Amino acid sequence: MHAFSVSAPDAGQHWNPQDYAIDAGFVPVLGGAAVRLLAPRAGERILDLGCGDGVLSSELALSGAHVTGVDASPELVNAARARGIHAELMDGHALRFTAQFDAVFSNAALHWMRAPDRVLEGVRRALRPGGRFVGEFGGHGNVARIIAAVQAARAAHGHGSSPFAWYFPTAEAYADRLHQHGFTVELIETVQRPTPLPTGVAGWLRVFAAPLLEDLSQPDREQVRQAAAGLLSDLPRDAQELPLADYVRLRFQASVR
Ligand code: BEZ
Repeated sequence: MHAFSVSAPDAGQHWNPQDYAIDAGFVPVLGGAAVRLLAPRAGERILDLGCGDGVLSSELALSGAHVTGVDASPELVNAARARGIHAELMDGHALRFTAQFDAVFSNAALHWMRAPDRVLEGVRRALRPGGRFVGEFGGHGNVARIIAAVQAARAAHGHGSSPFAWYFPTAEAYADRLHQHGFTVELIETVQRPTPLPTGVAGWLRVFAAPLLEDLSQPDREQVRQAAAGLLSDLPRDAQELPLADYVRLRFQASVR
């Protein structure tokens, strides 16, 4: 998921569905905990906010739920449609639904939407009374080592720090926001989830780091990516020797009164 920002609609991030499937295929695979929390039921109308290429939307649909996906990336919306998902091109800050859904679900997308009040306004409006909002995204401290390495690599090559920041709130801060928007929070937790990177640090930087490098020329981006990968060569590794990224997830379940 999935390209959102307020000042720059794509935050320098463009998604190529083929690269996404290779370098980020683990993202929907690891969305299982959020899907279990949602517990989709046959006949429910579910909005998948930041549906990406529709892998998890398809999983939700297996329950018999009617799933609509939205994403701000035209390429990923097309990829989701190719899977048979009803998907619409829509910025998560400007959802255009009113009392249409029993549940809104979101996996690994909300950290791209950097004006969370606008997102929550739209989610609330999209839900019928009693509807639920369930999801998972980056929490406070998420991928902090990777971000620090990219910033250090920029400095080492004479570039200033990137001002870009994903939205990675604490559980307390996000619970407060949910309350302010009229949600009852049934569960919110921060989970440390060291995450194996199937195509290594280089693959992660290739598919996800664009917003931290958007002000640089293509050769400078490549130089900084290589330097950052070097700085991260001592990341811990799993049993298959894959580097483990320092993912922190914020998982929540809320409902509207
Ligand atoms: C995440 O899923 O936590 C994430 C992915 C890319 C960039 C930042 C965070």
